[in-house]
Amino acid sequence: MSAPFRAGEVCLLVDGRGRHHLIDLEAGSTFHYHVGTLPHADIIGADEGTAFRSSGDGRLVALRPRLADYILRMRRGAQVVYPKDIGPILHWGDIGAGMVVLEAGTGSGALTLALWRAVGPTGRVVSVEARPDHAAGARAAIARFVGDIPPNLDLRLGRVEEAVEEVRPDRLVLDLPEPWEVVGPAAAGLKGGGVLTAYLPTVPQVQRLHEELRRSRCFLDAGTFEVLLREWVVEGRSVRPASQMVGHTGFITVARRAETPEPVIHLPEGS
Ligand SMILES: C[S@@+](CC[C@H](N)C(=O)[O-])C[C@H]1O[C@@H](n2cnc3c(N)ncnc32)[C@H](O)[C@@H]1O
Repeated sequence: MSAPFRAGEVCLLVDGRGRHHLIDLEAGSTFHYHVGTLPHADIIGADEGTAFRSSGDGRLVALRPRLADYILRMRRGAQVVYPKDIGPILHWGDIGAGMVVLEAGTGSGALTLALWRAVGPTGRVVSVEARPDHAAGARAAIARFVGDIPPNLDLRLGRVEEAVEEVRPDRLVLDLPEPWEVVGPAAAGLKGGGVLTAYLPTVPQVQRLHEELRRSRCFLDAGTFEVLLREWVVEGRSVRPASQMVGHTGFITVARRAETPEPVIHLPEGS
C-alpha cells in the first residue's frame, strides 16, 4: 500500500473540481481530460497523494482508489451492491477475520471484494455465479483491483444450492433473485449459529424468503431492514442536505442458523 505507483495498477486521479477519474497505469499511455493531458509515466514511480500539473495547467492528485471509489466506477455486468448497503451487510451479516464465507451470485464482484477484505488472509471466500459472462467479468474486475485473484478467493461457476453442503460456511451471503431456493441447502450446510444474509430489491421477494425461513424451522432472529443514506453539501456557509438522494436499492434480510421448534421472528437489536 505504501509503495510508489507501479505500471498495471489502477489509479484514481482527482481533478481541481473534485471529479474522479479511474485509470489503469500503463507506461506509454497518456491520460486525457478537459484540462489537457498527463503521461502515465509521470505517475508510475510516484508516491500516492502526489499532485501533478496537466498540460493545460490543471491540478491532478493521484491516489489508490478506496474500495468504495472502485465499486462506484467499476465495469459491470450485473447490478452491484452499493457501498451504503455493503457496510451494513458486513456488519449485520457478521463477516469477520478468519471466517469461511459462501457468496452468490458473484455478479460483478463488488460485494465479493468487500467480503474478501473482511475475512482477511486467514479467512476464505467461495463465490458462486451461475452465468459464465458474469463470472468472467467479475474475475476481471477483481483482478483489476487486487492485482490478481487471491488464493483465498475461490470463484466458481455454478449454482450456490449445490455448494453449501460441501463448503460448510460460517456465513452465507446471497444477492440473487430467488434466495428461498437456497434456504433448504443452507439449513443442511450452514454451520450452527451461522448467519444468512440476503439482499433483495422487492417486498414480495422479502416476504417469500421469510416464509421459507419460517417453514424450514432452522433459522432464528430473522429480520429485514433497508438503509437510507442522505449526503450533505458543505460549501462555505451553505451546509445542507443534498437535494437528491438514492431512494431505494435493496432490503437486507438477516437470519441465524439454529433449530427452532416453534417459528420465532425477532428484529435485530437496534434496528
Ligand atoms: C444482482 S447480481 C449480484 C451482484 C453482486 N452482489 C455484486 O455486488 O456485484 C445477481 C447474480 O446472481 C446470479 N445468480 C442467480 N441465481 C443464482 C444461483 N442460484 N447460484 C449462483 N448465482 C446465481 C445471477 O446470474 C447474477 O449474476
